[in-house]
Amino acid sequence: MFEAISAKDGTIAGGPDHSRDHHSGAVTDLRRIGINPNFWYPVAVSTSVRKEKTFAATFAGERIALYRGNSGTVYALEDRCAHRQVPLSMGVVEGDTLRCCYHAWAYRGNGRISQIPYLPRGAARPPRGVRAYPVREAYGLVFVFPGDPQQAVTTALPELPEFDSAKHKTMTFSRTVRCHYSFMHENLLDMNHQFLHRGVVGRIQPKLLGYDTDPQSVEARYLFTHAGGKKNRGAGLLAAKNIGGTTSPDVITIRTVYPYQTLQLVPENAELPAFSLWVAYVPEDAEQQTNHVYGLLMIEKPPVPGAIHLAWPLIRRFTERVFAEDRMAVEAEQRAWNEQGEDCNHEVFPLILDVRHVLRTNGVPLRAGSALCGAAAFCGSSPPASTPRLAEFVNGG
Ligand code: FES
Ligand SMILES: [Fe+2]
Repeated sequence: MFEAISAKDGTIAGGPDHSRDHHSGAVTDLRRIGINPNFWYPVAVSTSVRKEKTFAATFAGERIALYRGNSGTVYALEDRCAHRQVPLSMGVVEGDTLRCCYHAWAYRGNGRISQIPYLPRGAARPPRGVRAYPVREAYGLVFVFPGDPQQAVTTALPELPEFDSAKHKTMTFSRTVRCHYSFMHENLLDMNHQFLHRGVVGRIQPKLLGYDTDPQSVEARYLFTHAGGKKNRGAGLLAAKNIGGTTSPDVITIRTVYPYQTLQLVPENAELPAFSLWVAYVPEDAEQQTNHVYGLLMIEKPPVPGAIHLAWPLIRRFTERVFAEDRMAVEAEQRAWNEQGEDCNHEVFPLILDVRHVLRTNGVPLRAGSALCGAAAFCGSSPPASTPRLAEFVNGG
């Protein structure tokens, strides 16, 4: 689906009100749109939250104290003691309670204070406790629900059937990238950036076969052809069939399904993908100019027993190298935004215009009174004279 562009940044007409300034009606700069907190977000890798230990996590400037009780359950509390605001993540786990390191106030997993050791009899009623976040563990990650807790009950965790499939093995990624999460979505969906990876993967020609958009998602299908240059073994090993030596054209499907992103290669007639990447970009700071990437790369095991273990380090090295290049680019984009103070990008690829719309309309205002993108005059630029037509991007037309 592609709709007419109505603004210099390619906004599709008719978005919900919160993507616009209520007074002027101007489109809010996408990089000033906060991620919607009413979803499950990973904030730690499960193995980082050890039994009877704490872990300091963060979501968009909210500090969260995770701890794993003696029972094995993980709890998530506001990382601030109700007494004197000292981080609870500096505290001590006792059974399934968390005791602040300073004056030893103790908290239950629901955030209620269970003990103030020195409180005199008849003293004034102390505070009830701190905020507790709904928390779930799945896929080797700890997810919290930072939004309205009522909605946590009805909001599903992402479904990843490959994770539990005995035919697949999962590689986990967890790292910080210094940019707004929207740059990450644009980067993965816009495969026209293969030039960036020419040193690692050779000359790859991506051809957009088609794409679909709805209010919450954008799905793009690309055909990848190797057009010369060095072939990367790690890249070849990502598809199990390739370990056996045969290759076929790779059709890759990339989806932003708000707020997550996936990339899959599903061979013809196969039930599950040959490989499948699921990613969440979790803002760390209040300005959301830094995000933590949690990625699960689920790779189909080749039929030869043990071959996946031999291929594993090569696949890891390949993905790390590609990721490092992408990180370099998106962090440079964020630096440019910081220097210019607004989004001066000239986007020409229709599906990226669509994903920008999805991210804008599903997001939330970053904070009350946040500045809107300034006038186009500051960019020293004007919108593209004409909008590229879909046909120009599909099948190389
Ligand atoms: S600051 Fe936590 S008990 Fe005093
Ligand atoms: Fe890339």
